[in-house]
Amino acid sequence: MSKEEASERGPWAHIIRGMWRSPLGLIGVMLTTVSATLMVLGLVVEIFGLTNNVYVSIFAFMILPGGMVTGLILIPLAAYLRRRQWFKYGIAREHLQINLSDHKHRKLLVWLIVLTVLFFTLLTVIGFEGYEFSDSPVFCGTVCHKVMAPEYSAYRRSPHAKVACVECHIGPGVSWFVKAKISGLRQVWGVLTNSYDRPIPDPVQNLRPARDTCEQCHWPEKFSGKRVKTFIHFTNDDQKTPIINNIALHIGGMNRITGKYEGIHWHVSNGVKIQYLADKKRHNISKVKVTRADGSKDEFINTDVKLPKDAKWRTMDCIDCHNRPTHIFDMPDNMVDLGLYSKKINQDIPGIREDCITAITKQYKSRDEASAQMTKYLVKLQVKRHGQAFANKHMADLQKAGAFILKSYLDNVWPDMRIKWGTYGSDIGHQRADEGWGCWRCHDDSHVDTKGDAIPQDCDLCHDDPE
Ligand code: HEC
Ligand code: HEC
Ligand code: HEC
Ligand code: HEC
Ligand code: HEC
Repeated sequence: MSKEEASERGPWAHIIRGMWRSPLGLIGVMLTTVSATLMVLGLVVEIFGLTNNVYVSIFAFMILPGGMVTGLILIPLAAYLRRRQWFKYGIAREHLQINLSDHKHRKLLVWLIVLTVLFFTLLTVIGFEGYEFSDSPVFCGTVCHKVMAPEYSAYRRSPHAKVACVECHIGPGVSWFVKAKISGLRQVWGVLTNSYDRPIPDPVQNLRPARDTCEQCHWPEKFSGKRVKTFIHFTNDDQKTPIINNIALHIGGMNRITGKYEGIHWHVSNGVKIQYLADKKRHNISKVKVTRADGSKDEFINTDVKLPKDAKWRTMDCIDCHNRPTHIFDMPDNMVDLGLYSKKINQDIPGIREDCITAITKQYKSRDEASAQMTKYLVKLQVKRHGQAFANKHMADLQKAGAFILKSYLDNVWPDMRIKWGTYGSDIGHQRADEGWGCWRCHDDSHVDTKGDAIPQDCDLCHDDPE
């Protein structure tokens, strides 16, 4: 190109054309155009609900905007880098001014403004979609597929299956939103570098106080009174007659007749504050401080509990009992008992309860290995017990029982995440009190105040027989 050509076209036209000419500029222009086009396409797909594939959403709302912004930065950069050449072709600095009385310049400016507005609108819309998407359970539960699979799976069969992860894990307000996104980035880093904890440790450190999150939908002022719950067990000695425990839980809340808080939800009622000193897992509690609604204070101490140095004081909230409101993991014997009671496991086959428990709690290396071996192993145990002929005769029932326990296993165990039966225990109740879960961490008759009164363990404090 000669100097004359350059000056004939005008300096601006030269610069704009020049943007295309450098490889960097070309990449920038292509990146912007392709990203923008695909983003629009992604939006259309989203709006018309053409696919539910999360990877489409991740691409359209999280990766492409990055591409477009990179492109938009590259273009002026390319132009800037070519500046030297303009001067080489004799474009004087003073020609690089925008002259609004020149209609070419005006046209250029209008185009620039229109394009900028268009791009920003697109980015805003996409940004909003991306934000909504990054808050959706599908994103939380499936993007970090392997990592979150156990929690996602437990969540989908829980009473909160329709409550978004962020409602409990982030809650309302900007500051927790920012904290969550920062910790989210750290988690993504953990996944990328394969350096996350297995299993993901509980209790979750720095979980937002539950009262900010749960109380969007539940509140202790609501009086629940009593709630009857039924528990069904069998034993290996008698796998036919169910032991049925009916209990009426004193959930309580504010009693509108007396105007006082009572029952189990007393711990989180107005004016009551309970703090306790515990180890990291919150299994061992040495001291409990209470402030009651009338202002009186008390401290209960169990001198037998020795805590490590990292023991911390914690103020009791919903999570100290409802640590599994949604990631509810089952125990193997309960699942086998459910199978027996619902006739998915044939109670008439002698020893089936014991063999099912042996098969379901066997340590398989992976979920695939369990899928391949569990039923075979159950059959093997039955052959050992009753001989091949018996097993053959009851093969259909054994297959059905095998399928049931396998499904229960797959709902609860993830060897690659080191999640075994019982890894995540529940603090509601006292079924696993020996392992440090539940109400009896405090209600053990051994935490005593100076007057000698204990946090009570009376069987009718928390529940009694339903009338
Ligand atoms: C009803 C409220 C609620 C919802 C909805 C919820 N979680 Fe949780 N989640 C919790 C609580 C409470 C804990 C803390 C348990 C603890 O500290 O012992 C927790 C813990 C976790 C943990 C730590 C491991 C564990 O099991 O303790 C992960 C991971 C997790 N949640 C992921 C998710 C994902 C992914 C979703 C959505 C698919 C989700 N959560 C939805 C309340 C909720
Ligand atoms: C966005 C609203 C929402 C939030 C936030 C929420 N829940 Fe719920 N919760 C529900 C709904 C809806 C149900 C189901 C009600 C029903 O089955 O009648 C429910 C049910 C429950 C139940 C009864 C479960 C059962 O077995 O029937 C408990 C306990 C509970 N929630 C505790 C919590 C705790 C603890 C938190 C905070 C970690 C929490 N919820 C946060 C909406 C919410
Ligand atoms: C001292 C332990 C404890 C604390 C603290 C606690 N709960 Fe509960 N809550 C229970 C027990 C026990 C039940 C009955 C258990 C069941 O049904 O499985 C229950 C039941 C519930 C239910 C179901 C009520 C119904 O009528 O069926 C909801 C909802 C609930 N709790 C929400 C909360 C919220 C929200 C908080 C925090 C403000 C909270 N709980 C604090 C122990 C507690
Ligand atoms: C961190 C310790 C702690 C844990 C865990 C705990 N409690 Fe308590 N609870 C207390 C203390 C302290 C009192 C009050 C004792 C007193 O004032 O004499 C109390 C009192 C109660 C009361 C009597 C409330 C009233 O009407 O005055 C009930 C019912 C109760 N707890 C049920 C439960 C249940 C159910 C659980 C488990 C789901 C549980 N608690 C877990 C510390 C705890
Ligand atoms: C501090 C409160 C508290 C005290 C004290 C208490 N329980 Fe419970 N118990 C509970 C709660 C809460 C549940 C419900 C657990 C659940 O929802 O999974 C429960 C459940 C049960 C169940 C049914 C569980 C099952 O798997 O069959 C039995 C039986 C039971 N309790 C017996 C007792 C006996 C016996 C005592 C007296 C030694 C006692 N409880 C004292 C809170 C208490």
